[in-house]
Amino acid sequence: RILIIDFGSQVTQLIARRVRESGVYCEIHPFNAVSEASVRAFAPRGVILSGGPASVIGTGSPRAPEGLFTMGLPVLGICYGQQTMVAQLGGTVEAPDHREFGRAFIDVTASCPLFEGVWAAGQREQVWMSHGDRVIALPPGFQVVATSEGAPFAAIADEARRFYGVQFHPEVVHTPHGAQLLKTFTHQICGCAGSWTMATFRADAIKRIQAQVGRGRVICGLSGGVDSSVAAALIHEAIGEQLTCVLVDHGFMRQGEADEVVAVFRDRFNIHLVHREASDLFLSRLEGVTDPEAKRKIIGATFIDVFEEEARRVGGADFLAQGTLYPDVIESVSFAGGPSVTIKSHHNVGGLPERMNMALVEPLRDLFKDEVRALGRELGLPETMVGRHPFPGPGLAIRIPGQPLTRPLLDLLRKVDAIYLDEIRTAGLYDAIWQAFAVLLPVRTVGVMGDSRSYDYAVALRAVTSTDGMTADYYPFDHAFLSRVANRLINEVKGINRVTYDITSKPPGTIEWE
Ligand code: XMP
Repeated sequence: RILIIDFGSQVTQLIARRVRESGVYCEIHPFNAVSEASVRAFAPRGVILSGGPASVIGTGSPRAPEGLFTMGLPVLGICYGQQTMVAQLGGTVEAPDHREFGRAFIDVTASCPLFEGVWAAGQREQVWMSHGDRVIALPPGFQVVATSEGAPFAAIADEARRFYGVQFHPEVVHTPHGAQLLKTFTHQICGCAGSWTMATFRADAIKRIQAQVGRGRVICGLSGGVDSSVAAALIHEAIGEQLTCVLVDHGFMRQGEADEVVAVFRDRFNIHLVHREASDLFLSRLEGVTDPEAKRKIIGATFIDVFEEEARRVGGADFLAQGTLYPDVIESVSFAGGPSVTIKSHHNVGGLPERMNMALVEPLRDLFKDEVRALGRELGLPETMVGRHPFPGPGLAIRIPGQPLTRPLLDLLRKVDAIYLDEIRTAGLYDAIWQAFAVLLPVRTVGVMGDSRSYDYAVALRAVTSTDGMTADYYPFDHAFLSRVANRLINEVKGINRVTYDITSKPPGTIEWE
């Protein structure tokens, strides 16, 4: 396995994804949590130093542990990682007037094991650069193997010690052969076999779950989302009957979703599943509430109450299963300082583990989202579940802004949502979209239907593309598609007479309306 030391680059996670895509397990550790002892304990076959926003010239800037360079391990420094390696081994880094950002070209000046099979001396290659500082004098033992206009030492190598540095970013897609270069580092230079697959992960995870849980009992909240579904299927494979799943049905799910969860988990996987229909309770506690944050708090608290009640009813449990993923676990390196502001309190059931005072089973905490999907397929979960768009915990309840929630309004929105998604699937667009949904607007507008006047609700349709939900752009549907959806909605859903499409990006908008 490979250790990635994170110096706070925006794209450190991409390094990990490229490495794992090449069949090598790796972890990201923040620079300030890494010591020579922790590297030894992790026992990697090689180390990658990430980029980062700091300048090595500044005093007190982040460093790799000194001992790292005498452990005999191959090291690849990327951007800031290259600069700190150079500075720590006796070379020089300067802040030039000329910075390089975006697409750039490097000239390969010497053959190098890192370029094996892709780049040869004399070739010119496209890469992606993003740096202010640059290396101007090499430490002893190093030679330059590629140059660019802005970086005379675009790639450097000390073959005897197996230390390599690149000023560009091989982990981004704008460096066309970057993934191959990382693979050459991990496979050829570090000697990793590349045999880490979802099948091996599944087998190892099952052993880990069995060792952790023993004869204990585990309880797991199921929502129909990808993460909890995959976690439940995996844990069930490990401990069978010792697992109980609870589906708290708050009445804000999509059409048919609760039924699908029951069909898959109870009927197909034979998992002990408690389906608690609690929509009356949720609606009564939300009576008259329109404030978005108040809604989220009430839904979160009610969820916990119901979940605890069901946990007691099945005789309690020793462990609580959660579908926590790797991006939530990585301690991000922040130079900005200060807590970030709460835009929306998404962690609607965040208090559950503390409240219930149970140990956690989190079998997905080493995986990225796409890896969780691959594992779900490996476990035989249906594609409709594994490939599903993200869906917020409070569900449709946060898609009826400005008016108190009622069952008729929820049913109306559920119908609209189902037709919209049906059209998206039929048009083959589902996988190209990050998330798509409808919002029931708190206005009624005048229309004509046949020969009479109508006075009905308006809906807004939303569809966005995104990679992580942090930023998003609206999906550019063609007009024929939008007309088709609008026609169907107005003809098939009584109570709707106007359809609009939301073309706001995030930022400045958010994905959800509230
Ligand atoms: P926003 O609206 O903040 O959404 O741009 C980003 C992503 O988070 C989802 N979201 C939520 N998920 N509980 C959740 O579990 C929430 O309260 C919540 N609010 C937003 C949203 O659907 C999108 O995927």
